[in-house]
Amino acid sequence: MNIHIFKNKKSLDEAVSRLLIEQVNKHPKSVLGLATGSTPLGIYKQLMDDHKRHKTSYQDVVTINLDEYVGLDKNSPASYQSFMKVNLFDALDINPKNTFIPDGETKDLDAACQAYDDIMKKHPIDIQLLGIGSNGHIGFNEPNTPFDSETHIIELALKTRTDNAVHFKSLDDVPTQAITMGIKSITNSKRILLVATGANKAQAVKGMIFGEIDPILPASVLQTHPNVDVFLDYQAASLILSSK
Ligand code: F6R
Repeated sequence: MNIHIFKNKKSLDEAVSRLLIEQVNKHPKSVLGLATGSTPLGIYKQLMDDHKRHKTSYQDVVTINLDEYVGLDKNSPASYQSFMKVNLFDALDINPKNTFIPDGETKDLDAACQAYDDIMKKHPIDIQLLGIGSNGHIGFNEPNTPFDSETHIIELALKTRTDNAVHFKSLDDVPTQAITMGIKSITNSKRILLVATGANKAQAVKGMIFGEIDPILPASVLQTHPNVDVFLDYQAASLILSSK
């Protein structure tokens, strides 16, 4: 794992977005694995600004998102469909047919999981952007998800629902389940960029880098991947800096 520590969020966002822009410019048919949540917002803003200023084109890019809530209307502002449209896709020249987000609304969730694995087989991910949950989840793979999992339905941990309640009217409105790329699907990506900011991620970050490789901390699986870059601000890095 290559660890990069930044003194502020802006320089971190610039460094990560630069890598993504370079990838798209060099390989216009890239497949990008994307995350939602608060962490990538600044990175997406940089991508949108760059598209406007330098005309980096996403016409042939394919994107595959990590996850979606189960049972939430796609058009609800809290759905990851809406999130991606508002915070990235609508401002790029990307073809909506090339943007994939798991279907959490369908009655046949098993078929939706299978369909998502088929999409990833057809479009192997070149670069996967990841955040990390305060409990160490990646995607919505909560603690104790098997490392060999593919796309599946997960019961969201109370910690995750509480962390994400800010995007809903109340905790009761946060869905209890999600459909997520599995850990095997994530680690199949050729390259992984994991981003963590804020003190509430410090414990999970320390475990991810120095802890035992164990499903209890899903992100620890990244120690086994040959091409991972971790981007941290000082707060998220605070426990690894103090343990040196
Ligand atoms: C989002 C996702 C999650 C988030 C994680 C951190 O698609 O899969 O793993 O990356 O929950 O969320 P934020 O960035 O909101 O702290």
